[in-house]
Amino acid sequence: MKAIPYGRQDITVADIEAVTRVLQSDYLTTGPTIKEFEDKFAQYVGAKHAVAIANATVGLHLCTMVMGVKPGSKVITTPITFAASANCVRYCGGEVDFADIDPSNLLIDLDQVEKMLEAAPAGTYEGIIPVDFAGFPVDIMRLRDIADHHGLWIIEDACHAPGGYLIDGEGTKQLCGNGAFADLSVFSFHPVKHIACGEGGMITTNDTALYRRLMRLRTHGITKEVDILEENHGGWYYEMHELGYNYRITDIQAALGVSQLDRARAGVVRRRAIAERYDLAFADTAVTTINVPEKVGHAFHLYVIQVVDRKQLYDRLREHKIYAQIHYIPVPSLPYYKRQGFKIEDYPNASNYYEHCISLPMYPSLTDEEQDFVIDQVKSFVG
Ligand SMILES: Cc1ncc(COP(=O)(O)O)c(C=O)c1O
Repeated sequence: MKAIPYGRQDITVADIEAVTRVLQSDYLTTGPTIKEFEDKFAQYVGAKHAVAIANATVGLHLCTMVMGVKPGSKVITTPITFAASANCVRYCGGEVDFADIDPSNLLIDLDQVEKMLEAAPAGTYEGIIPVDFAGFPVDIMRLRDIADHHGLWIIEDACHAPGGYLIDGEGTKQLCGNGAFADLSVFSFHPVKHIACGEGGMITTNDTALYRRLMRLRTHGITKEVDILEENHGGWYYEMHELGYNYRITDIQAALGVSQLDRARAGVVRRRAIAERYDLAFADTAVTTINVPEKVGHAFHLYVIQVVDRKQLYDRLREHKIYAQIHYIPVPSLPYYKRQGFKIEDYPNASNYYEHCISLPMYPSLTDEEQDFVIDQVKSFVG
């Protein structure tokens, strides 16, 4: 049996041809394929606007910038996420606070969030960065109510959840990143994610003013938008209105993204089928799985289980060339955050989860045979 990673990109002949076409075209970057990718992605998640960027980390940075994070700002996020969800606040000089997770879905615990907001003087917190961890969408409708009550903005870290959704009270599908609840949502196109660009990311929003500002900040803060130019010397003329960055994606990456996007829906369907097989296989065993309520459309970037002796299972799987992974070492326990005074003991649910979690292989091209091999190894381990 060949090595089985926890996540893997799927590159087809059509993907290669799409990239080749761009390589042979006039534009390797700042060309038309970026706009095509943005338009198609916005349509995929049902948002008004999309801004493609070099990766999700820089996308999160731009989002904290446009929401006005600065020294003195305090923002809440979850301890069980990749460091970037918290780091983006630090890039702008703001402070992060963590609310513990809900063990039933591994997402930021909204009851805890409410308690934190009620215990702090009004105006203490400016915003919240929930994460659709593993592809399980956070209850963004309830979070919007909480945020509105306390005057907070929401940047949804939806890196794990393109294609994820919640069914609202009226029975309508609310797709992650559709702009109806979060101010901004951010997606990643790292190869282990749903859509691979090599590196890449997308910000979605329904707020046109935020969209226009993000577009400028992605390119140095430079604009040619005639309605805001202070002067106009001719066709070449541009102005730089604020300090931005070069956070652009290339047309080469965007071409891969557009081609991958064509299969994104089918990819989520396949991921759900793999999850269902795992769920069935682990029912009535000592493996803890996550129960997904009917109203939740899980996007299954990851399939996470919890077992008593996680390290032994991790090592055992590696012996069989199954490269399961751990998501995540809690952010407050990373040395950089520890130095700021965070202690993992303050987040008992995150701490307990970390002791036992392991992410099993989950990607559309995982074969049933490979999955059965993984299941057999896990089951023989837990007995
Ligand atoms: C939850 C989450 N946020 C942000 C990021 C950063 O994404 P990128 O690698 O595209 O910068 C990742 C990537 O792993 C992630 O998992």
